[in-house]
Amino acid sequence: MVKDAVKLAPSILAADFARLGEEIAAAEQAGADRIHVDVMDGHFVPNLTMGPPIVRCLRPVTRLPLETHLMISNPDAFLDDFAKAGSDTLLVHWEGNDNLHRTVQHVKGLGKRVGVVINPATPATVLEEILQDVDQVLIMTVNPGFGHQHFLHTTLPKIRRVRQMIERLKPGCELEVDGGINADTAPLVVQAGASVLVAGSAIFGHDEGVAAATKRLRAAASHSTN
Ligand code: DX5
Ligand code: ZN
Repeated sequence: MVKDAVKLAPSILAADFARLGEEIAAAEQAGADRIHVDVMDGHFVPNLTMGPPIVRCLRPVTRLPLETHLMISNPDAFLDDFAKAGSDTLLVHWEGNDNLHRTVQHVKGLGKRVGVVINPATPATVLEEILQDVDQVLIMTVNPGFGHQHFLHTTLPKIRRVRQMIERLKPGCELEVDGGINADTAPLVVQAGASVLVAGSAIFGHDEGVAAATKRLRAAASHSTN
């Protein structure tokens, strides 16, 4: 993979919600490639966050694509709302979805990009049959539900396996990772084959500011031996 092709997706979960517009503007100015919006329902994961109104408010304040990570029990019921609100990409979990192909087709029917997410204990092989239909895969490198968690190193072999699967079945499909990504772990995931890095606490909430934090993460991602 070309090092500079690694994309950064700041997760606003770690941002100051009272200053959300400014935080996103800072991330955009610092060279972020897209904005990651974590949606949690208190059921699929033990935490509550935001819904379509937040996406609707963010849409006019940034030119960056908005990707919406749906950690909710019935994503199908909200796809239209998030699409209408301005999400560019909808990320849906493999876990708990008995009709994933239908969900993926639903997103495509809305004219949006679609990605499938797998949790740390879910094997890479479940992606095999759906890969052809998606624009990106998201491998959780922590258990979903909270920011500021430690990266699970046990996910690295899986990232390598999914990279191989993508090269075999759908070159061009993006391989994104989410959870515990910082300047220490970024080189590891890039070396394993990740092409998009989600980062919340490594970008927002630093004393050094969003610009310096983004620069530091990008530099670290480029220092992989790939
Ligand atoms: C966790 C979310 C992540 C989270 C990452 O369930 O999906 O996107 O914001 O936060 P950090 O980068 O702090 O681990
Ligand atoms: Zn996320």
